[in-house]
Amino acid sequence: MPISPTIARAPIARVCGIFALGLLAAFSARPSRAEDGYRLWLRYERIDDARLRAEYVGATRNIVLETQTGAESPVIAAARRELTDGLGGLLGASAAVGLQKSPASPNPALGNEGYTLTRQGDDTVVISATQDAGVLYGTFALLRLIQIHRPVAAFEFTSTPRVGRRILDHWDNLNRTIERGYAGSSLWEWYVLPQYISPRYRDYARACASVGINGAVVTNVNADALAITAPYLEKVAALADEFRPYGIRVYLSARFSAPIELGGLKTADPLDPGVVAWWREKADEIYRHIPDFGGFLVKANSEGQPGPQEYGRTHADGANLIADAVAPHGGIVMWRAFVYGVQPTVDRVKQAYNEFKPLDGKFRSNVVVQIKNGPLDFQPREPFHPLFGAMPHTQLAIELQITQEYLGASIQLAYLGPLFQEALRADTYSEGAGSTVARVVDGSLRNGGLSVIAGVANTGTDRDWTGHPLAAANWYAFGRLAWDHTLDAADIADEWTRMTFSNDPRIVEPIDRMLASSRETVVNYSMPFGLHHIMATDHHYGPGPWADAGRPDWTPAYYHRADSIGLGADRTDKGTNALAQYAPEIERVWSDPETCPENLILWFHHLPWDHKMRSGRTLWVDLCLKYQLGVDGVRHLERDWDSLAGLVDAERFAHVRALLGRQEKDACVWRDACILYFQQFSKQAIPAGVEHAEHPLEYYEAIQLHYFPGTPSGK
Ligand code: GCU
Repeated sequence: MPISPTIARAPIARVCGIFALGLLAAFSARPSRAEDGYRLWLRYERIDDARLRAEYVGATRNIVLETQTGAESPVIAAARRELTDGLGGLLGASAAVGLQKSPASPNPALGNEGYTLTRQGDDTVVISATQDAGVLYGTFALLRLIQIHRPVAAFEFTSTPRVGRRILDHWDNLNRTIERGYAGSSLWEWYVLPQYISPRYRDYARACASVGINGAVVTNVNADALAITAPYLEKVAALADEFRPYGIRVYLSARFSAPIELGGLKTADPLDPGVVAWWREKADEIYRHIPDFGGFLVKANSEGQPGPQEYGRTHADGANLIADAVAPHGGIVMWRAFVYGVQPTVDRVKQAYNEFKPLDGKFRSNVVVQIKNGPLDFQPREPFHPLFGAMPHTQLAIELQITQEYLGASIQLAYLGPLFQEALRADTYSEGAGSTVARVVDGSLRNGGLSVIAGVANTGTDRDWTGHPLAAANWYAFGRLAWDHTLDAADIADEWTRMTFSNDPRIVEPIDRMLASSRETVVNYSMPFGLHHIMATDHHYGPGPWADAGRPDWTPAYYHRADSIGLGADRTDKGTNALAQYAPEIERVWSDPETCPENLILWFHHLPWDHKMRSGRTLWVDLCLKYQLGVDGVRHLERDWDSLAGLVDAERFAHVRALLGRQEKDACVWRDACILYFQQFSKQAIPAGVEHAEHPLEYYEAIQLHYFPGTPSGK
């Protein structure tokens, strides 16, 4: 079959025309206040509707904060400040805020961080909690309900977090670059700490606390031992002081070879008494600086990081070494399971399971094994990581990626609430149906224990914090789901839209729609049907199915396996048998292409180009149509956004509009490059309904992006 000739795509001028009109309208409509995004979802803009405002003013005339001690504290002061600013902004009124000791004994169901909102009479709201942090969370909840215009009758409920430690992992380097960071430099101004305290620290902490995040690992997993030397500990302590009133603890990444690099020891062997002593002294020193230091996050024997295996020891030996050092102070260790060998002898997605499963039950009680949501590396869609169903005697944490390493950086719109939800709700079947990843992580499947959920942060020094004006929705969604994974991603998006933009349905509906479809749109044009790791090498932005990354398991062909017969990785028992790492209930369903979820089919199966898909069409045709659907999806996003011209402020309107234009262009590149590349193998025509590429394959293969932000090589 001849390859179809190149035909130009729909002209971009149409889009530009709408853009220009939109801008005109935006400037000529009622002058909305300039918005640079700095205030995130805590804008506290005055409620226009006077009736509604009056209702809220009446209902919140008195606010009573109630704790077990009834004592003032920096956390209570933070709650008071937030109420003053929040109600002042939203209602133009101030409440009489009182503090009292709870007349009742502690409600065990509330735990340390839960809260109850109740109404007393018509004009009083009581925010009660066992501890001060609960009052702060209740305060933010009350302000949220007012921001999203919920009726006052809704000010009556109890909420407790399902996961104990809800942590942002910052992949921030001490030189202020951020690995996979797309929103500027690191927020932490190391050079001028501890003397200069940027006001952003407090605003960062407020934003985190408002969604229930209670921890921050402030340094990159690819760790620098300097971070735990005395001068840096003073700086970290200053950050901890700023975060503490907002219930946030500081954690650090640990470099396993620190005893050699800092202590001058000859070894970092976890069983060496000198090494044990070194870590204990180091922990004591850290806690002298930061009494509530949370603990360490460790990446070891992974992608060049040092680790216990260099001494013939296991990951458990390594984790327990550091865990024992911090245990007397109440610290924890989050030991990452993101490991794969330099020489891939087995399928990369199987390696973490192979290494960690035999260690089940061998970790100290203050260790969690921190596992990425999927077995590869934060792809736009992955099956859940099989380790979640395989280590019943180990506390397992989930690591999600908020920063969009593989979903278009801060250039493209991808609301990740649905991805997080999908990962958390996946059923491992480890103890029968309903053994979801969320229940493994929150401890409810196995009677509690330490529970941790981590998200790799998307924050930076960009004025709007996250680079793309809509990307803060991902920070927000992570926090809300970390607090309560039973919340719905669409409801969370709706809250965020109302708080970040407006309650006006003409604004809410299009933005909610955009957020809802955006992640699947990115999947469609970049990695449809479970294709994975076909992105460009190094910076990971854009397609690279042809790339040779220098080692097989970094090279896309290792994963897509395109050949004259078909496409996809065979992970059945005829292939790498990665499916055997899942429970039999899952293995059975996913092993058969007829029952395997189609959105993961090429993750697990090498299918012939003419394989009949559920649509009745062939794999080749459906693949091409999916790429087109992705591009069309971006055009829907553009149309929805264009409908907001004149309704949202001109700054954010123009910024998002421009980024969507870029996204459309880049989605076309994904589609065209991948279709042309795979067409070399399928040797079939591009089906009707799919726009044809503007350029030949060589053009796409030659695209090079330089100095893409967040790229470790820097080039
Ligand atoms: C990915 C990412 C790296 C990061 C690593 C990790 O491979 O590209 O930049 O260091 O994940 O999670 O450790």
